[in-house]
Amino acid sequence: MKDPVTFYPGAEADQGEAGGGDLAILKSRASRRAFIRGVIASGAVAGSSTFLFGSLGGCSPDRPAAGAVERLLSLNINGKVRRVDVLPNETLAMTLRYKLGLTGTKLSCDRGECGACTVVIDGVSTYSCSTLTHMVGDRQVRTIEGLEGPNGELHPIQQAMIDELGPQCGFCTPGQIMSTVALLEANPNPTRDEARHALSGNLCRCGAYDHYLNSVMRAAQEA
Ligand code: FES
Ligand code: FES
Repeated sequence: MKDPVTFYPGAEADQGEAGGGDLAILKSRASRRAFIRGVIASGAVAGSSTFLFGSLGGCSPDRPAAGAVERLLSLNINGKVRRVDVLPNETLAMTLRYKLGLTGTKLSCDRGECGACTVVIDGVSTYSCSTLTHMVGDRQVRTIEGLEGPNGELHPIQQAMIDELGPQCGFCTPGQIMSTVALLEANPNPTRDEARHALSGNLCRCGAYDHYLNSVMRAAQEA
């Protein structure tokens, strides 16, 4: 290994000033200089690598990171295009309720177990708490608010729910209704068993299942 005194540029001058004095002091000075220069040099390298790799990683304001998603989406909700800023991990239930103010869609378990958050996407009843908004794309989303008639009339299924005293507390009702919408559009004359099967993903803590089934059968008959 090279002696730092002779290896480090300028060490000779120090040595000269010292008049060939104590070698340990010279070595100590040279080591300190080498250390400081080394720190400065490594800082410069770190700075340049941040510049190089930072811009590759998307830190550059005019270049998005690889794999980044466009956050401003156009969603088709109840027949209208809604522009909304959506986080990459945001569920449709969160977007509907807290970005678009459509609070008719309820959130309960928030993990695909209860059906309170049911909406209809392209004719299929879907748990919105288990659907990433970024996965919706240009599909048609319908919520309970979208059932309202042009003059505020209730949808026939909503009216049938009232006529049969379907809901008790009513918390699960929007989800029950949206599952019924999807059922009756696909199968306008379901048997009671088919209706039971179609609504099997909608739990009701009040236990009003028979009332809901009566409502579905009435809505089918009156359609
Ligand atoms: S809140 Fe979505 S299934 Fe329960
Ligand atoms: S009516 Fe109360 S939870 Fe269903």
